[in-house]
Amino acid sequence: MKVLNLYACLGGNRLLWNDCEVTAVELDEELARLYKERFPNDTVIIADAHQYLLDHYKEFDFIWSSPPCPSHSRARFARKETTTAIYPDLKLYEEILFLDNYFNGKYVVENVIPYYEPLISAKKIGRHLYWSNFKLPNDLGERKHSIMESKDETKKWCEFHKFDFYQYKGDQRIDKIARNLVDYEAGKTIFECAKGIYNNKKSTQINLF
Ligand SMILES: C[S@@+](CC[C@H](N)C(=O)[O-])C[C@H]1O[C@@H](n2cnc3c(N)ncnc32)[C@H](O)[C@@H]1O
Repeated sequence: MKVLNLYACLGGNRLLWNDCEVTAVELDEELARLYKERFPNDTVIIADAHQYLLDHYKEFDFIWSSPPCPSHSRARFARKETTTAIYPDLKLYEEILFLDNYFNGKYVVENVIPYYEPLISAKKIGRHLYWSNFKLPNDLGERKHSIMESKDETKKWCEFHKFDFYQYKGDQRIDKIARNLVDYEAGKTIFECAKGIYNNKKSTQINLF
């Protein structure tokens, strides 16, 4: 199964994916470098994921997209008196509409629960919203945590995600990056659903011949 992992960050979602060929797209060079170290067999592209989707979607069987969430997040909106005002980034909805109508494979787009009513209805599971063209289970097996903003927050994220975030030498804040990763168990459950559908379709096609 050929998988496109958009806005790949450090592959929190991808950690437990097996038997697949992954192309990961990430704009931050330092994150892309660390992702490649973590998943040496994946193809890693440093590019704008939004454009990459448009140019390459036909090459894949399953597409996972995790567009940046700050412009939608309730946490940022709650601080609107003290932060710079920004428009909600509607590329999130562009990708959902595009994938739903153009893409023949299976997809999932993941984001935070926004401060407004979502423009396209989604499935809410835990702290996230998921848009997909296949049925997701109500329980993704996501691991619970109680990691709060604190001095040793990053250290706790390192243990939780099984990754040493202190290796990152780029421009983004390490604690912010660490908070971005999807729980690997949730990533695995979603991936296995898509893979089950893909394998069924493949064996039906083989039986037909
Ligand atoms: C929410 S995180 C993704 C988390 C990821 N799914 C995981 O589980 O590890 C979003 C990532 O998108 C990257 N990013 C932001 N804008 C981008 C763009 N235009 N193209 C590619 N990556 C981008 C950020 O650097 C960040 O790593």
